[in-house]
Amino acid sequence: MATHKLLLLPGDGIGPEVMAEVRRLVGWLEQRGVADFALEEGLVGGSAYDAHGAAISDADMDRAQAADAVIFGAVGGPKWDPVPYDVRPEAGLLRLRKDLGLFANLRPAICYPALADASALKRELVDGLDILIVRELTGGVYFGEPKEIVTLEDGTKRAVDTQVYSEGEIERIARVAFDLAKVRGNKLASAEKRNVMKTGVLWHQVVSRVHKESYPEVALEHILADNCAMQLVRRPKQFDVLVTDNLFGDILSDIAAMLTGSLGMLPSASLGDVDPATGKRKAMYEPVHGSAPDIAGKGVANPIAMLASFGMAMKYSLGLGELADALDQAIAQVLTEGLRTADIAAPGTNSVSTGEMGGAVIKALEQQLAR
Ligand code: IPM
Ligand code: MG
Repeated sequence: MATHKLLLLPGDGIGPEVMAEVRRLVGWLEQRGVADFALEEGLVGGSAYDAHGAAISDADMDRAQAADAVIFGAVGGPKWDPVPYDVRPEAGLLRLRKDLGLFANLRPAICYPALADASALKRELVDGLDILIVRELTGGVYFGEPKEIVTLEDGTKRAVDTQVYSEGEIERIARVAFDLAKVRGNKLASAEKRNVMKTGVLWHQVVSRVHKESYPEVALEHILADNCAMQLVRRPKQFDVLVTDNLFGDILSDIAAMLTGSLGMLPSASLGDVDPATGKRKAMYEPVHGSAPDIAGKGVANPIAMLASFGMAMKYSLGLGELADALDQAIAQVLTEGLRTADIAAPGTNSVSTGEMGGAVIKALEQQLAR
């Protein structure tokens, strides 16, 4: 049996609590003889800053490069608000994305019927929602240079961020999105601001060319990013796969998250190119929710996004796709059975702890597999 090398980076806030449920799931998989794992654990974010004065150490970066998959919890918290910009907790996450070349960020937003009432939108708008946001993750305004604050001659300051995209960067993310559209609903929406931004003009041109050249059978729609935000709350089920740049993807995926009832439900996968020599790709899996410092350490965080992120690792990195599907079924099952952590519980109803939810998902997974 192949041994899967995983690097766990729990991070800050609720990160360690939800990561504990991944450890449990991994232990259960080993016990069942499904797979063997070699687990390593490292520090990222504020916890890494406290230990080494950097948001991630070079040694942990090397371990991330060597892993089959990096499993990431969350970073940040008010404790580190005063630390210098270059070593702020988020810098660790951004370095992992950039140095591992994880340009394709997949953020599925699924509204489980059992949770439709937890959404801020009316049930009929979100019940059964299943969209996939494909966010470009290593380019755009997040990384473009210059990126600086300069002092002008008159003593006032000026800040610059640079939005930059090359044709190659747009083409490779477009291909990932078209390929995913083909195995889903065969339709793709591409969001940019070509009415204002040159990067939007090029984005539109490149996506159109790739469509014409390689994916004419996929129904492609171009949509302005602001209109896309509006359509996501007006009639979200019109979308299936949505491809967009780094910054728009950040914003649109938070909107999509709330459609599903809670940020605590959204997993993500960040993938690099397939290495032709090994057939493998670098990958990192992380919940979309943050470190939630307000509830950290209380044992009440929702572990579903973290567990579902591990499910995406099983699917995209570990060759355990069927098991990943069973895990999704198990999550749907516990929700149907009425189990709720505080973030998705109706006001005035009981909620379970992080550990109880994690345990219930594993139990449901056992039942799913016995079917
Ligand atoms: C996300 C987060 C990050 C981002 C932050 C923590 C740097 O909001 O993954 O969506 O902006 O990409
Ligand atoms: Mg975000």
